[in-house]
Amino acid sequence: MLCLGIDTSCDDTSAAVVLDGKRILSNIVSSQAPIHKKYGGIVPELASRRHIEMIVPVVQEALIEAKVTPKDIDFIAVCHGPGLIGSLLVGCCFAKAFSYATKIPLVAVNHLEGHIFSVFLEYNDLDFPFIAMVVSGGHTCLYLIEGFGKYIEIGRTRDDAAGEAYDKVAKILGLGYPGGPIIDKLAKEGKSNAFNFPRAYLPDTFDFSFSGIKTSIKLKFQELMSKSSDQQRGQQPENNMINNLDQQVVKDICASFQKAVIEVLVKKVEWASSKYKIKKIVLSGGVAANSELRTEMKELASSHELKLYLPSLSLCTDNAAMIAAAGFHHFLSGNLVSFDLNPKAYLPL
Ligand code: KG4
Ligand code: ZN
Repeated sequence: MLCLGIDTSCDDTSAAVVLDGKRILSNIVSSQAPIHKKYGGIVPELASRRHIEMIVPVVQEALIEAKVTPKDIDFIAVCHGPGLIGSLLVGCCFAKAFSYATKIPLVAVNHLEGHIFSVFLEYNDLDFPFIAMVVSGGHTCLYLIEGFGKYIEIGRTRDDAAGEAYDKVAKILGLGYPGGPIIDKLAKEGKSNAFNFPRAYLPDTFDFSFSGIKTSIKLKFQELMSKSSDQQRGQQPENNMINNLDQQVVKDICASFQKAVIEVLVKKVEWASSKYKIKKIVLSGGVAANSELRTEMKELASSHELKLYLPSLSLCTDNAAMIAAAGFHHFLSGNLVSFDLNPKAYLPL
C-alpha cells in the first residue's frame, strides 16, 4: 500500500511517499526557519502563506523522488491537527482537492500520533504496549500506548512545551531561532552546574512545567546584563547589550538550562516505566533530536534494562513520513474521511 503523506501543521511544508507504513520512498521537508528567524519565533500568517507557495512543489518533489505518479498512490494521509490553524488548512485543503480530483481515498492523522508512529519507520521489532514521550515545540506529553488507537495520556505540560522553552530561552539570550539546535550546540561548551535553575518535578503526577525555568533564566540574564553594563559604563561606547555578556556565561546558561530540562524529562520516563511496568520507551518530537537528551535516555535505558526506540534526527522533527506511517493504520482500519474534513488547532490524541 503506497501512501502520500502530508504535514503542514506548523512551519515545515512536508510530503512523503511511504510503502506499507514502514518504508520511506521519499520524505521532502521545506523548512520556513529562514522566514521566521528574524522574528525569533513563528509568525502564523507568514507560515500559512509560505505553505500555499510550497505545497504543490513539495508534493511534486515527493512523487518524483519516489519515482511514482498519482496513479500509484493507494491513499493520502493528511495531518488535521493539532497545530496552527492557517497552516493546517493549507495541507487539508490540498489533500481534499487532490483526493477529489484523483479519487484517491483520504485519511486524517493527529500530528502527535504521527510523531509516535515515526519509530515504526525505522524499527521492526516494536510491539505494544509501550510508553511514548512526545517532546516538541508545541507538546510535551507522556502516553501509554496499548495498541493502534488505544492511547492513554498519562502526563502533559501544564504550560510551555519543552521545545517552546528552548526557543524562548534562545530568544531571551538573543541566540536566534529555532532555539533548540542552537542551545544544544552551545551547551556542549558550557558548564551545566554553573547555575542551579529550578526543576519542576510536580510530584505524584506525570505532568510537566517549563515556564518557571524560563522566567528564572530571564531574571538571571537581566541581573547579569545589568552587572555587566555597570562594569563597562564609561569605558566603552554603547553597543549590543548581549555582546557585553561574556560568551562563556551564555554557554553556561545554555548548559545549565538544558541539564534542568533533561533531568525532569528523563526522570518522568523512569517513573512512568516503573509505575506501568513497561520496558519499551519511545522518544519522539523535535526535542528528541537533542544530543544530550538522547545520551541521557540511552543511559537510563542501559541502567534500567529498558529498550529505547529513538528516531533518527530527520524523523524527530516534523515530517510527512510519520503522518503516512500512522495513516497506514487508519487506512487498514477503514477510517476514511470525507471532504467535509476540517482541521483543528486543538486536537487531543
Ligand atoms: O516536532 P517539531 O519539529 O515541531 C512541533 O511539532 O512542534 O519540534 C520543533 C521543536 C522546536 O522547539 C525546536 O527548537 C526543537 O524542536 N528542537 C530541539 C532540537 N532540534 C529541534 N530542541 C532541542 N535540541 C535540539 N537539537
Ligand atoms: Zn511536531
